[in-house]
Amino acid sequence: MTTTELLSSEQIIALAKKHLTANYTRYPVALVRGSNSWVWDAEGNRYLDFFPGWGCGILGHCPPRVVQAVQEQVATLIHVPNTWYTEPQTLLGQALGDRTDFGGLSFFCNSGTEANEAAIKLARLNGKSKNRYKIVTLTGSFHGRTMGSLTATAQPKYHVGVEPMLPGFNYAHFGDLESVAKAVDGETCAIMLEPIQGEGGVNLAPPGFLEGLRELCDKHGLLLILDEVQTGMGRTGKWYAYQHWNIKPDILTLAKALAGGVAMGALVARPEVAEKLKPGTHAATFGGNPLAARAALATIETIEQDGLLERAVQIGARFQTRFLGLKEKCPLIAGVRVKGAMIGVELSVEGAAVVQGCLEKGLLINCTHQTVLRLLPALTLSDEQIEDGCDIIADVLLNLKT
Ligand SMILES: Cc1ncc(COP(=O)(O)O)c(C=O)c1O
Repeated sequence: MTTTELLSSEQIIALAKKHLTANYTRYPVALVRGSNSWVWDAEGNRYLDFFPGWGCGILGHCPPRVVQAVQEQVATLIHVPNTWYTEPQTLLGQALGDRTDFGGLSFFCNSGTEANEAAIKLARLNGKSKNRYKIVTLTGSFHGRTMGSLTATAQPKYHVGVEPMLPGFNYAHFGDLESVAKAVDGETCAIMLEPIQGEGGVNLAPPGFLEGLRELCDKHGLLLILDEVQTGMGRTGKWYAYQHWNIKPDILTLAKALAGGVAMGALVARPEVAEKLKPGTHAATFGGNPLAARAALATIETIEQDGLLERAVQIGARFQTRFLGLKEKCPLIAGVRVKGAMIGVELSVEGAAVVQGCLEKGLLINCTHQTVLRLLPALTLSDEQIEDGCDIIADVLLNLKT
């Protein structure tokens, strides 16, 4: 079998079990088609998707302008190596840099973990002349699955079985400035964190924390690396989440929503910091290829032209109202955390049964950190879809057998 055939869900799942590694926990559903916030399985059942593409589908499934850009580009030039210049990559660098307020320079790769590997290397390259190489990262963080990003991920459960981890990472407590200050020593070159922790449970930094970290970095000559793989590209109502606070990072990492569902990652750094990335220091064969870059440009254009940063804020407010209302009636809800279209509902019980219950009623959601329902909806989600989906979540939660 070389091309896609019309198989049933049962056939696809049986073949997957035979031919794929078993490293993912998968639901027994085979998806075949998507449009905006809807997806369909092989039997034609339709699902409302509040978690499109694990945060990558910022415009939902198959957004028309991204589809058109990719269709045009795929017939023009798919990939050339970075020994040549291309217009899409260059224009994307300009678009990302212009949206930072520090004239950021871009390096492109293909995923979040790769963007963070680049950030770790760039921090070490900047610290080299002072013999500084250590990076402080925070409890509850998630930075990816390759060995550098995985070591940066200060959650021991992800390290089990693949130790020893890399040297040069010190862990401190998220939200606790004193703990971070204690973790910094004379060999530290950077502090790295997500401005809002995603996988860790949609954890917002307490007031003053990010500003305090910036001050700490300035005091000790450290770089501030913000992992915006999940929070970036409009997710929280600003192009980059750090723009909600009065701070600027030295290095920013992006992926997920960057190219509207096409695989792409990026590092964006202050020019004085980025200059250490000289020829030979770092590379990615597929990084910034014309196909992904055109998809990213179309994503940015759509967000801008359709006023979707403002829409992210409205979406967040509507979900917040619904979940705070539900919390009054449902003792299982312990907390609601929202920043734009990044939504976490903390439960007092494990959330897996809620995800399953929603799936059975045609709604796709996620649960992270065992007890936090996480929604990363498309910025194109309609009010009606929000209400319909929240009705399903309410129904499942209010009837949950605990
Ligand atoms: C904040 C953050 N950083 C990095 C990653 C890793 O991204 P990828 O899976 O594209 O390597 C993720 C993935 O969930 C993430 O949420």
